[in-house]
Amino acid sequence: MAKVKVAVLASGRGSNFKAIQEHIKAGRCDAEIKVLITNNPDAPAISIAKDNKIPVEIIDKSGFPDREKMDERIKELLDRYGAELVVLAGYMLILKGRKLLESYKNRIINIHPALLPAFPGATAQKDAFEYGVKVSGVTIHFVDESLDAGPIIYQEAVDISDCKSAEETAAKILKTEHKAYAKVVDSFSKGHYAVEGRRARFVPSS
Ligand code: GRF
Repeated sequence: MAKVKVAVLASGRGSNFKAIQEHIKAGRCDAEIKVLITNNPDAPAISIAKDNKIPVEIIDKSGFPDREKMDERIKELLDRYGAELVVLAGYMLILKGRKLLESYKNRIINIHPALLPAFPGATAQKDAFEYGVKVSGVTIHFVDESLDAGPIIYQEAVDISDCKSAEETAAKILKTEHKAYAKVVDSFSKGHYAVEGRRARFVPSS
């Protein structure tokens, strides 16, 4: 089965990016990461890309008149690297470009460290811990113009009842993120997701 050509967008640490690349190297994820695109020239994710000989493209927000134009540049890069799947891995800007979102509809995925629609936003693990929920988890979803609300591809629960801090909660959920994201990326080499309304259903390749 053909490897899925992936572009990763990341702004920071890049541990999900690294985990996916490690699963690829170990033969557990049928994908090839063609490029890392980042908006942060200091992102630790850049050295992960360099260690793995993955090209890096840095796009600086201040170099564009607006986000539509910045996202058009991202679209150009995705086209140029032949991306079939766009993986957001800690990309801290909301994708707003209409052209980008339309051209890559149902081909951009994001990982969120909670069971959506519970705890959307940037502090999901802390919010879940402080709310006192016993179970939180991981959601992988398609990206559309909404915030953390595109059709859900995959969810996995994580028992956080034994966690004693928000940091411990985040660390526990992150372990599940790493495996889940690689598994979902791999699934794109074996089929596609049919999206009907809010529901995404896996359709294996024949
Ligand atoms: C992860 O917790 C992910 O769920 C969220 O941002 C964080 C990125 O971490 N969207 P990393 O850069 O992959 O280490």
